[in-house]
Amino acid sequence: MDAIEITQSGAPDVLKPARRDRPQPGEGELLIEVRAAGVNRPDVLQRKGLYPPPDGASDLPGLEVAGTVAALGPGAEGFREGDAVMALLPGGGYAGFAVCHARHVLPKPETVSFVEAAAFPETAYTVFANAFEAGGLRAGERLLVHGATSGIGTMAGRMARAFGAEPYGTAGSDAKCRAAEALGYARCLNYREEDWAKLLGEAGGVDVVLDMVGGDYVAKNVSLLREGGRHVSIAFLRGADAQFNVIEVMRKRLVLTGSTLRARPAEEKARLTGEIRRQLLPKLSEGLVTPVIHETFPLADAARAHRLMESSEHVGKIVLTL
Ligand SMILES: NC(=O)c1ccc[n+]([C@@H]2O[C@H](COP(=O)([O-])OP(=O)(O)OC[C@H]3O[C@@H](n4cnc5c(N)ncnc54)[C@H](OP(=O)(O)O)[C@@H]3O)[C@@H](O)[C@H]2O)c1
Repeated sequence: MDAIEITQSGAPDVLKPARRDRPQPGEGELLIEVRAAGVNRPDVLQRKGLYPPPDGASDLPGLEVAGTVAALGPGAEGFREGDAVMALLPGGGYAGFAVCHARHVLPKPETVSFVEAAAFPETAYTVFANAFEAGGLRAGERLLVHGATSGIGTMAGRMARAFGAEPYGTAGSDAKCRAAEALGYARCLNYREEDWAKLLGEAGGVDVVLDMVGGDYVAKNVSLLREGGRHVSIAFLRGADAQFNVIEVMRKRLVLTGSTLRARPAEEKARLTGEIRRQLLPKLSEGLVTPVIHETFPLADAARAHRLMESSEHVGKIVLTL
């Protein structure tokens, strides 16, 4: 099969097309013929040697795919050969075929394309697990998302609206802020020019923060969280160390939490898959949480796709097609 290998740690050019043997589905696994593969920021970190694949995962990058079931491993249930599916993977998505636990696979609704379906799992699982489960976001509440135009941010905005919450965001340019607002954000602030913490504080604060920035953002987030607010960390683009006022945490009874998706045990990902199937898939079918696609590239152009992601010019998801 065709695949993209990380030939060594480094710049996007280390991603090279290669030929690999087709993987075999093991116990409880499906073999998926990949039609499209989502590109995610963690793939960039893996390429740079900063995010190694977990034990037992493919060394090829790629955390999500959409395609058709090509074969079932022993004991795999719930799908048949030829079914159109989307899947959350521990790795191996940048390839013609990928294997995945059947319990981490979702049926692809007919109303979404393979490209859209490939852009769904990583962001939808991350936002669901963090903003909704850990953060307990409820209808009528305000969610603040830094990186509002990122793959995660665009999905967070859509999911917040779909569940009746009000999304607020930050992004690095006016054009990105207007794009986020066109996609459903109530208000998006340009963090390079506006004092977002002051402005959002004056506007009444927020109930949940989905934070991928860390560093000096944490104190600001804490300052504008309302009573009973929740702060959920999913990355730390400005650094993992943060200093904030503990008195504010106590006074407002705040909860600070966070998580990673890839490292979760298989059983936990299966539980999440069940919840997403029940709570989110109907909304995807209805077009309420369709991923925002910025651009697609043929698989062989994965290096170009990574260059675009690192430029941060995109709004929404970047997807590889086969
Ligand atoms: N914990 C988890 O389970 C999990 C799962 C998936 C992804 N993630 C993390 O979530 C983040 C988004 O992932 P993605 O795939 O959606 O990536 P992406 O589309 O490339 O988004 C990254 C965003 O970060 C913003 N950004 C970069 N540097 C920044 C800074 N110094 N200050 C503020 N914003 C900054 C960029 O926006 P501007 O250009 O507007 O600044 C960009 O929109 C990544 O950090 C990724 O590692 C976590």
